[in-house]
Amino acid sequence: MELVEAIKSRKSIRGYKSTPVSKAILAQILEIATNAPSSMNTQPWKFTVLGGKALDELKEALQKRFLEGAELHPDFGLSPPPSGVYRNRQVDLAKSLFQLLDIAKEDRGKRTEWTAKAFRFFDAPNVMIISMDEEISSYSYIFSLGAISQTIAVVAVDFGLGTCIEGNSILYPEVIRQITGIPESQKIVAGIAIGYPDWDFPANRLRSTREPLDTVATWLGM
Ligand SMILES: Cc1cc2nc3c(=O)[nH]c(=O)nc-3n(C[C@H](O)[C@H](O)[C@H](O)COP(=O)(O)O)c2cc1C
Repeated sequence: MELVEAIKSRKSIRGYKSTPVSKAILAQILEIATNAPSSMNTQPWKFTVLGGKALDELKEALQKRFLEGAELHPDFGLSPPPSGVYRNRQVDLAKSLFQLLDIAKEDRGKRTEWTAKAFRFFDAPNVMIISMDEEISSYSYIFSLGAISQTIAVVAVDFGLGTCIEGNSILYPEVIRQITGIPESQKIVAGIAIGYPDWDFPANRLRSTREPLDTVATWLGM
């Protein structure tokens, strides 16, 4: 697949077929993605790849914690909610998603069900947890993890796979540590759901909007 086509066709996938992705394919994706740039070539990423029973256990435990109403405490703290234009974009996304899923704003039951599914990594057959050593967990290195996350997502497209980078999935890091054995000395940065997209799942019809370039780009000297 052409690079530009892969970049353009990547989108967040929130419904998957149950078919597991083979370890060989997941390894190839990571192998290719590690060509991503990193600050001073530190390659500060670590991957924990889950499937099968291990992932079932993690999904169950995260969902349980959420449904109990446990306090959210990601390793890097909670980001403040977006305001202004950023809030508007968040609201637009939520409205579009809930419309496709036929979930009314006031339907708390269905909204809770949807969030529980997010804690189950949207029922993806595989998940990559991205973490980094605490000693290197500052700006340049976290940025590098962003670079490799997008690279993974784009490479996955080439294998006919979908992904969803999920901040939501790392809100209970102690649960992830307990099941994966990721030590306290590593900060958990993101979870990436990965699998073959279920194109019949309504949320997968979403094509999120983008601002016109003029509102985000400044041109100088040209
Ligand atoms: C850091 C980060 C965290 C995200 N967390 C979530 C999440 O918790 N749940 C979710 O459904 N999507 C999550 N997303 C996906 C975004 O909602 C999505 O990238 C955005 O709406 C643009 O849509 P697209 O990926 O389909 O192009 C996250 C994306 C990033 C980069």
